[in-house]
Amino acid sequence: MPIKHSRIAGTGAYLPPRRLTNQDLAHQLASQGIETSDEWIVSRTGIRARHFAEPHVGSSDLGLLAAQRALEAAGLQATDIDLIICATSTPDMVFPSTACLIQQKLGIRGCAAFDVQAVCSGFVYALTVADAMIRTGSARRALVIGAEVFSRLLDFSDRTTCVLFGDGAGAMVLEASQQAGIVASRLHADGQQAGMLCAPGTVSGGAILGDPTVKMDGPGVFKLAVTALEQVANEVLQAAGRDASCIDWLVPHQANLRIMQSTARKLQVPDDRMIVTLDEHGNTSAASVPLAFDQAVRDGRIQRGQTVLLEGVGGGFTWGAVLVDY
Ligand code: UT7
Repeated sequence: MPIKHSRIAGTGAYLPPRRLTNQDLAHQLASQGIETSDEWIVSRTGIRARHFAEPHVGSSDLGLLAAQRALEAAGLQATDIDLIICATSTPDMVFPSTACLIQQKLGIRGCAAFDVQAVCSGFVYALTVADAMIRTGSARRALVIGAEVFSRLLDFSDRTTCVLFGDGAGAMVLEASQQAGIVASRLHADGQQAGMLCAPGTVSGGAILGDPTVKMDGPGVFKLAVTALEQVANEVLQAAGRDASCIDWLVPHQANLRIMQSTARKLQVPDDRMIVTLDEHGNTSAASVPLAFDQAVRDGRIQRGQTVLLEGVGGGFTWGAVLVDY
């Protein structure tokens, strides 16, 4: 029988142990003469704390731990996997890909492994690619990972960005199935808005060219994000032939609580049906959606048989949504 779906067989996540509260960060920034406060950060974003990886820890280390937990949850071994896709904007190296480094650390070889670069929409992009590869028969069991050490890209003299981001990783095992799974997905990008959110640096001849720290027009991104997330949610529901009442849980990219609440209200999803980890994780870019999803699976909120809408938005400008019957 031809494969109809790819289903989420297991999820996992990992946060580096070092946790910084807003007060910790405000204290650290004050010593550099930069003023911020817990009150400003909470009221404008919803963030209360974030985790930062130690300097020797890379995205592949965080991704490996999340992947191992997802494999364990799925009851599978690394050798069962025939595709690894890692969404990251903070790879360990220029090359090889973080996915190849995770493959190396998992002790396996031979299966396809590559990175997807769509910044904060990265996981939704990676999941869509893995789903397509499974449904066309190129893979049967995929590890889809979002892993970031975004703290490495922060300019701690810019209070408008450095208070927003954190490090972490989340993963899903996606497998070929005759039954429920990913129902529909839609991805978009607008490269005309590339300058709105970027880390405009590169390497050349062993030197850094430009400035590879995060630059963001926050209010500009805010406005684009609110519109894009509503549109893509409706698009994916239409593609599935359903309406928003089918959504048991909304798992949006965790960037700003006000953006997340605006999307939930437009879809008429009650606030308590939206998974929020932003308060404790900050914005972990490509890791935010699988981190939030895994947390809600493990605490018993997201259950088998329920329908979940995943949404991503970020640099590129990129955005997308995936509707899943979990
Ligand atoms: O993951 C990718 C997607 N990214 C996003 O979705 C981010 C979207 N944008 C946002 O979340 C919000 O725009 C921010 C949280 C980044 C900023 O919030 P805002 O309400 O748009 O603030 P603003 O940039 O308009 O700044 C308001 C004021 C400014 O002061 P003045 O000019 O009014 O005197 C800023 O200088 O807040 C000031 N400010 C701060 N004050 C204390 C900016 N950052 C800080 C700070 N602490 N950390």
